[in-house]
Amino acid sequence: MDYNSSTREVSQEQVEELAKSISRTPGFIRLMTYYRCAIMEIQTKLNVLNAELSLQYDRNPFESIESRLKNPESIVEKMLRKGIPITVEDMEQEMTDIAGIRVICSFQEDLYSLAELLAEQDDVLLLSRKDYIANPKPNGYRSLHLLLDIPIFLYQGKRHMKVEVQFRTIAMDFWASVDHKLKYKKTIRDPEKVAEKLKICADTLAKMDAEMEEIRKTIDSNGEL
Ligand code: GTP
Ligand code: MG
Repeated sequence: MDYNSSTREVSQEQVEELAKSISRTPGFIRLMTYYRCAIMEIQTKLNVLNAELSLQYDRNPFESIESRLKNPESIVEKMLRKGIPITVEDMEQEMTDIAGIRVICSFQEDLYSLAELLAEQDDVLLLSRKDYIANPKPNGYRSLHLLLDIPIFLYQGKRHMKVEVQFRTIAMDFWASVDHKLKYKKTIRDPEKVAEKLKICADTLAKMDAEMEEIRKTIDSNGEL
């Protein structure tokens, strides 16, 4: 369904109140449990790939995995902002980032291989793929985002859940965490200047990632630098 995505004025009080009441409902609690199960499924798949690939290539394709469930306030805030009715059904239908996983790799090439190996598994359905590495955001943000559909197997049968998986290098993650901190800081004196510097850092880090990849290839082939 297409909702009017123009920014709406939403008060913090309204968000808190709605989040509090919906998060107490059995339907919401159940849905969050299902998302937690979906995260476990994807995490296991990634750990299996890591174990197998590290045997084959003698290095870990990813450094770490982080996961999170979006908190009720953030869910409600986003739904109100997008004009989505605040019901558990609409939440599951319309929200794509309640279950989130972040995979942090040393090398860009590993990140693409892992993403591909995960997305092509029999029980995984790739709903969307946004490559902000090939096409960085204007601010310099780089990551590969996959939206996956994954079945979880319950007492009552199979249920399909959506999980957003972000793949980044350590350098991209470092940049995104600084960018994220600055976004929430309301008292920056010269935000344009900061944005400009961040963009330069993003491009520098991307060059560094490319050079690290070259070094890795040289080491792997036992050749000369
Ligand atoms: P929302 O941004 O969640 O409304 O969804 P979208 O459809 O615009 O998805 P998008 O792929 O743009 O971003 C989803 C997620 O990627 C965000 O929740 C962040 O975790 C991350 N992300 C996207 N852009 C940026 C950015 O400029 N800086 C940082 N630090 N993270 C970003
Ligand atoms: Mg966005």
